[in-house]
Amino acid sequence: MLNIVIFGAPGSGKGTQSDKIIAEYGVEHISTGDVLRGEIKAGTELGKTASAYINEGKLVPDSLIIDMLAATLDAKGKDIKGVIFDGFPRTIAQAEALNDMLAKRGQSVSTVIGLEVDDAELIKRIIARGATSGRADDNEETAKKRLDTYYSQTLPLKDFYIKEGKYAKINGVGTIDGIFADIKKAIDAVK
Ligand code: AP5
Ligand code: MG
Repeated sequence: MLNIVIFGAPGSGKGTQSDKIIAEYGVEHISTGDVLRGEIKAGTELGKTASAYINEGKLVPDSLIIDMLAATLDAKGKDIKGVIFDGFPRTIAQAEALNDMLAKRGQSVSTVIGLEVDDAELIKRIIARGATSGRADDNEETAKKRLDTYYSQTLPLKDFYIKEGKYAKINGVGTIDGIFADIKKAIDAVK
């Protein structure tokens, strides 16, 4: 079972490269951001709570996210080739919860694909996407807050996964296909 974490700052290309990984390896996609936007659209209690955090560029509380992730993972069933976790984990508590969840299934994280992109490029990509995405958080002001949140709460996970020997550093600047070729090498090394 391939359990891939795709890791990186807002706008680093996690969603874009997830699509290519799914096409190549046939794994299931779990994007916590997409699940939360679905909840907001459906007007659920979770969606209402989440939108306040998302619009401020803050993280939705761990307990809500971990329960949501467990339910989403269970819904995929057992007959799958693996999962790509996109936008999760984002805190050490979430990473520990993921390790526990996978261990209960006799599995573990196979590799962490770390997309590394400079801040100026990240902000440029998010503002450009804001013209058409309809995402409430795709504007310069919120993008800067999302980046601050990333550096203070999510980047510490890089060391967590380096210590576990699982972090594959990928230069996330360049052509989408060129970046994917590097990702493919990292995944094939653990397959
Ligand atoms: P989430 O939806 O996960 O957003 P994000 O991490 O901020 O990242 P994005 O989806 O904006 O970017 P991406 O890395 O997927 O890049 P993409 O491929 O789209 O989270 C949103 C919010 O939900 C969070 O802020 C938080 O509030 C909440 N949340 C979600 N998960 C949570 C969790 N686990 N815990 C707590 N809260 C959580 O690419 C970006 C743009 O760049 C696109 O337009 C793309 O076309 C373009 N692009 C991609 N690759 C390239 C390239 N190589 N060159 C040029 N342009 C490129
Ligand atoms: Mg995304």
